[in-house]
Amino acid sequence: EHGLALPRYEWPHDGLFSSYDHASVRRGHQVYTQVCAACHSLNQIAYRNLVGVAYTEAEAKALAEEVEVRDGPDDTGEMFDRPGKLSDGIPAPYANEEGARFANNGAYPPDLSLMTKARHDGINYVFALLLGYREPPAGVEVPGGMYYNPYFPGGFIAMPKMLVDGGVEYDDGTPATETQMAKDVTTFLAWAAEPEMDDRKLMGAKWIFALSLVAVQAVYYKRWAWSHLK
Ligand code: HEM
Repeated sequence: EHGLALPRYEWPHDGLFSSYDHASVRRGHQVYTQVCAACHSLNQIAYRNLVGVAYTEAEAKALAEEVEVRDGPDDTGEMFDRPGKLSDGIPAPYANEEGARFANNGAYPPDLSLMTKARHDGINYVFALLLGYREPPAGVEVPGGMYYNPYFPGGFIAMPKMLVDGGVEYDDGTPATETQMAKDVTTFLAWAAEPEMDDRKLMGAKWIFALSLVAVQAVYYKRWAWSHLK
């Protein structure tokens, strides 16, 4: 079953030679942390992954240190809490799926690491879904604990509308409108699902450049090698 057809946008990182909009990735991390992280994990991402992408190493270290991480056992066999490190993953809001469902009326907020890949046209899907909350059409009865959103397959989703103007505080002073936050968190999730994209495109460009030099030299050599024949 499909939701409503998705509007398609040109994302800054779509092009063959285009990188992510890194200022947007950074703001999107702030949306994730201040809003989505209350219910959704991001299991594939550690603080160190943010370094050089959205934050400096010192900034990422400071972010990691804000969370308490359960560690151990130490040499006396005890578990202990310590401040987070760059190598720690972004903490999950619930211990497991049962806990997550218990806290969400039986619904399961999925891990967001691969969301933009797991759904068809996932980047446009996440963006449309976040902004897609409407009044239901006349005659449509919304089941209890559900919300009407035509972009969600079936039209009823257990996640309430999450983004409202001013809902987060951006450290670069960008006004946090609903659409700005939707764009930024979608860009952040696109990066999270494919953090190697920038490197891959850069590597591709380097290979194309290197191979074009090889091609020029091969043609030159061929002409030279055969030049004594008329
Ligand atoms: C589902 C994104 C915040 C609870 C989803 C889905 C996405 C998403 C993409 C999956 C839709 C699908 O399966 O196709 C986000 C983003 C958030 C956010 C980007 C922050 C801006 C939250 C918060 C809560 C929450 C704060 C809890 C209060 C849920 C639940 C579902 C869900 C329960 C499952 C819905 C269902 O299966 O009916 N979310 N979410 N989400 N989210 Fe969120």
